[in-house]
Amino acid sequence: MHDIEDLKQRAFNKIKDISSNDALEKFRLDYLGRKQGKLTTILRSLKDQSEAERKRIGGEANRFKHKLEVLIERKAQELKQSAKRDDIDITHPPHKIAHGHLHPLTKIERRIRQIFLSLNFSSVVGPEVDTEFYNFDALNIPQNHPAREMWDTLWLADAYRRRRGKQDNLLLRTHTSPMQIRYMLEHEPPFQIIVPGRVFRNEATDASHEINFHQLEGLMVGEDVSLANFMYVMDVFLKRLFNKKVETRYRPSYFPFVEPGLEIDIKLKGKWLEVAGAGMVHPNVFAAVNYDPKKVQGFAFGFGIDRLAMIKYGIDDIRLFYNPDLRFVNQPFK
Ligand code: FA5
Repeated sequence: MHDIEDLKQRAFNKIKDISSNDALEKFRLDYLGRKQGKLTTILRSLKDQSEAERKRIGGEANRFKHKLEVLIERKAQELKQSAKRDDIDITHPPHKIAHGHLHPLTKIERRIRQIFLSLNFSSVVGPEVDTEFYNFDALNIPQNHPAREMWDTLWLADAYRRRRGKQDNLLLRTHTSPMQIRYMLEHEPPFQIIVPGRVFRNEATDASHEINFHQLEGLMVGEDVSLANFMYVMDVFLKRLFNKKVETRYRPSYFPFVEPGLEIDIKLKGKWLEVAGAGMVHPNVFAAVNYDPKKVQGFAFGFGIDRLAMIKYGIDDIRLFYNPDLRFVNQPFK
């Protein structure tokens, strides 16, 4: 019994100081090794003892054996953990931290604004929920005018209009042109503005059409603002935006709020893509904002910002801009 007690004390003290796997294995063999192990030897010698002794010493020795096995296992774990800590290589380069970045549409909008500010335009914004008056009537598109069908409109429910105490029908603006009216009602010419913003249309989507997209309105009004001025501004704008030669074409077109009206196309991967509607502001529009159409004239334009981004970044499907797949937006857009 004394032998066991003694052995126990020595074993418990010894294992505390063990600091390597080799030493631990040696310790294990020293006590529990099948041939020479100290404790194994005691257990083996039990068969020569009387039954009473066998019970007494055997019980004690087995408890010791069990305790020793637990301590050895615990030590092995401890050694494993500290080995892991020692494995840390402080000279290893750190993981690359992913930085946030701007969405390509935000990026191009900022660039566009920069260009127009340098041309002495001011940038203003307007409401996305607007009234029938600003979106249509004041732009020379009265109710029942067939041209209303050019813009498939998302109307807001009557209950919403009443809750806001509005008289006029509310809609999600179908273009940024209503800001022409809002701005002119509050300012006198001469001026030149741009209006970037989100617009909405109730139409089927395809590679160049979204139901929610972005436009860039432009409006320059003064005593002698001409179509030639418009062509010059377009030339400078498109050259600076694309930094490379793009094929451009101007086509006559119709919008109720301009006369004459035209459209601009740019080539993307061999195909013409319509990027803007434009023209000289219609006299009826000036009349609606109490300007004298005999004294002032001006040009207006409305670009699809998403379409400009498609051309700048060589993207042939507008829907990618709104796709939640981050692999698309995480590409470098220069
Ligand atoms: C207009 O919205 C006029 N307000 C533009 C205008 C302004 C004309 C000032 C004259 C004077 P339009 O519906 O064609 O016109 O749209 C203008 C541009 O927005 C198009 O040339 C195109 O680039 C873009 N666009 C139109 N519909 C979509 C759509 N569903 N998805 C993406 N871009 C679109």
